Amino acid sequence: MATALPLQATPAHNLSQSSQAETAFRNKETSKFIPRGDTVVSLNYFQPPEDGSIPFNFVEEPPKGQPPRNFGDFDIKVPIKDIRGHEDEYTLDRDAFKVALNVPSSAERDFSSDESIKKNYYPEVEKLILDNVPSSNRVFLFDHTIRRSSPNARRAPVARVHIDQTLKSATQRVHQHLPGEAERLLKGRYRIINIWRPLNGPVQSNPLGFASSSTLKDDDLIPIEHRYPDRTGETAGIRYNEGQKWHYLSGMTNNERLFLECFDSYAYNQGTEVQGGRVPHTAFSDPRTPEDAIGRDSIEVRALVFGP
Ligand code: OGA
Ligand code: FE
Repeated sequence: MATALPLQATPAHNLSQSSQAETAFRNKETSKFIPRGDTVVSLNYFQPPEDGSIPFNFVEEPPKGQPPRNFGDFDIKVPIKDIRGHEDEYTLDRDAFKVALNVPSSAERDFSSDESIKKNYYPEVEKLILDNVPSSNRVFLFDHTIRRSSPNARRAPVARVHIDQTLKSATQRVHQHLPGEAERLLKGRYRIINIWRPLNGPVQSNPLGFASSSTLKDDDLIPIEHRYPDRTGETAGIRYNEGQKWHYLSGMTNNERLFLECFDSYAYNQGTEVQGGRVPHTAFSDPRTPEDAIGRDSIEVRALVFGP
């Protein structure tokens, strides 16, 4: 098994000698917890229902007599590449993921109140998208999820290869959130992009893995009915294929953002450069992570992105 690469000490010219020593100590302490570099990890993949029926899962309690879901899963080892140092080699149109580095610190400090997150963090995410997603001119943020690794957390990291939406549910989302304008907006380009970041970075454990959209075959994308109490959405499970190329960004910090594009309507238009526009992703546990590493906390904000 590969060992973690040492983290370069960060320059700290403007710090006093004692705080330089402290910073160096902290970095050294943290760096021993951060696995870096290419490795092999086990990912949990979708297994279709044995009887050939349409896969479903219930978001909340299933109705009496029904299972929470009718499909299985299995673990398989895959190579995974650390894109640290190569962040700018990946694009939304080819890979359906993208990294932003050196993002200014958020005005939101606690990430504990939804109202406060919407007030402070949402406008920053909207601007980040408009500045970084080519040809975007309008953003509607419709949801966010805080994940914490503590045992009693409401939502934890998801160790299951998936994509949040499909053509059907992305289109539904436009109708649901922008009913008056949906018909018009659906004639243009519409995308769903999650903006993901750690809350307690640099990430020591349970990082997020993502496979390039350009390596995912349409046939390996399996729609799953996502049954809410009052409506049915659609997510996608991924059939394993060794052609799928996995990546992660080691030691992701609070000033870095991952763009996870779950859907791009241009993938359905002839003559565009878009290679699928959908990124399989999952949390994974890295066998190099020490036992006493800190659990990852994160937030993802989900955005409808329009234009031109
Ligand atoms: C997402 C997602 C899982 C995780 O951002 O869409 O699936 O563990 N995240 O953060
Ligand atoms: Fe997801």
